[in-house]
Amino acid sequence: MLNGCSFGCIHCCFMLESTLEGPLVNSRRSFLKQCSIGASGLVLSRSGALSAMTHAMPAQAQTLNASTLAQFVDPLPIPPVAKSSGMRPLPSSPKTNVPYYRLAAQPTELKIHRDLKPTRMWGFGGSVPGPTLEMRSGEEVLVEWANELPQQHFLPIDYRLHGADGTPQVRMVTHLHGGIVPPDSDGYPEDWYVPGKSLTYHYPIKQDAAMLWYHDHAMGINRLNVYAGMFGAAIVRDKVEDALNLPSGKYEIPLVIFDRLLTPDGQLYYPISDKPRAPWIPELFGDAVLINGKLFPYLAVEPRKYRFRVLNGSNARFYNLTFQNGLSFHQIGTDQGLLPSPISLKNLELAPAERMDVVVDFSDSRGEQIVMKNDAVGVMQFRVSSAKVSDSSSLPSQLRPVPKIAESEAVKTRLLTLDEYRSLAGDTVLLLLNATYWHDPVSEKPAQNSTEIWSFINPTDDTHPIHLHAVRFQILDRQKYAPWAYQSKKELQFLGPRIPPEPFEAGWKDTAGAHSKMVTRIIVPFNSYPGRYVWHCHILEHEDNEMMRPYEIVAS
Ligand code: C2O
Ligand code: CU
Ligand code: CU
Repeated sequence: MLNGCSFGCIHCCFMLESTLEGPLVNSRRSFLKQCSIGASGLVLSRSGALSAMTHAMPAQAQTLNASTLAQFVDPLPIPPVAKSSGMRPLPSSPKTNVPYYRLAAQPTELKIHRDLKPTRMWGFGGSVPGPTLEMRSGEEVLVEWANELPQQHFLPIDYRLHGADGTPQVRMVTHLHGGIVPPDSDGYPEDWYVPGKSLTYHYPIKQDAAMLWYHDHAMGINRLNVYAGMFGAAIVRDKVEDALNLPSGKYEIPLVIFDRLLTPDGQLYYPISDKPRAPWIPELFGDAVLINGKLFPYLAVEPRKYRFRVLNGSNARFYNLTFQNGLSFHQIGTDQGLLPSPISLKNLELAPAERMDVVVDFSDSRGEQIVMKNDAVGVMQFRVSSAKVSDSSSLPSQLRPVPKIAESEAVKTRLLTLDEYRSLAGDTVLLLLNATYWHDPVSEKPAQNSTEIWSFINPTDDTHPIHLHAVRFQILDRQKYAPWAYQSKKELQFLGPRIPPEPFEAGWKDTAGAHSKMVTRIIVPFNSYPGRYVWHCHILEHEDNEMMRPYEIVAS
């Protein structure tokens, strides 16, 4: 019984499929509510073959084969640093003047490769990635996020998805990912606004130095807006980091990586499913891997140390980056800042939305051309000059202590399932968190300043990168478990030992890979502002199709 659910109610699956092709989210919602075994009982059985099938791309249009393009002919662009347009009073305390920025999302044309015509995109400040926001811990900034987009979207909206039904095509709201900011400045997905409007957000930056990023978060079209180019890097600095004498200035470079599919004439292509009324696809994977907005860029470097701030800004792709000549990355930081000490790595693994702070020392590679690969594919080249240089920067052996949070500090443990629902034909049609929809009542309500353990129970075949807004957390461990025992009896049967996080993720995180058939536990101090935030899978196609939930930090 390949496609039936575990309870043998195969009609559920038929009905689920036909319901999902209907126009209203509500209809599928009420259907799941009617089903006697409830939403979690609808998890369908899975097989590798089915998985491969849904991951394949529908052949609807010709796409450009990126590997046919000349490699390493364009220099790596460095996104501009956002310029403040003066000081403005804080709305909450008009006597305090703070730096004010205005970043407008606009249509733009981006030259992504020497041999391609400019690509139409939507970017902040007309660039993709948008300008890098530079902030210091202890300072406050105001950012006006303006919607200067046209009235019509150029990517395929699925009107059945939450938030996309009966709303304007073009909507935006910007979230500062990793920023610990008040809820009314966090970019709540339903706080979107239309072309011609803007929202001014207040970021009181009190957190440790880290690379954050900003991106669109509009309900139901987030995957399309980000795909169109609506994101950029944000860097928080502080005194602890200053004192480390890490490579800086022109020796510190953001590498924002994102994949796209292109049409033969170099335009963005976002495929749709083979059902015209249900165009959503479960994941977008493109063969064109762009770094800072260029395909196959090269970077001329000196034989010395560099600091790279690497961000995976892709909708769904995971990266595994290596240097062809075996050079090491010295990882110094995770999503939320510095590690206790550097870790030497031969490869960098990044799930969507994850960041890695690395130092690379080219001093032994004088005169070499080093290709950086993602799996087997070259994506960027470093051209090391043979010049004699002096490098006064350091790679200290001690960076910043990351005190391990003891499990005993947690006042509560939440078991939360990651659920994927399939049609009889094997297509993924819906993803939920803990079998609840976005519009269901808020169920996660941690108390402000309390610490909780969240256990992500993942019966699916995929890793889901789970992100919580407003907090930083630590990964406790992962453990293999028996999905069917949990599905049928709500019994957690473990099939192996607790595996500690990998060294490269054993620091402060805001996004963690919940691996397939495992229980991933994170420990989260909710030391931020009270109010409504969200948590979600950062595969944007999943997030847009219900794999996102509100949560509320309750004032203590
Ligand atoms: Cu990158 Cu809701 O976040
Ligand atoms: Cu976020
Ligand atoms: Cu997911």
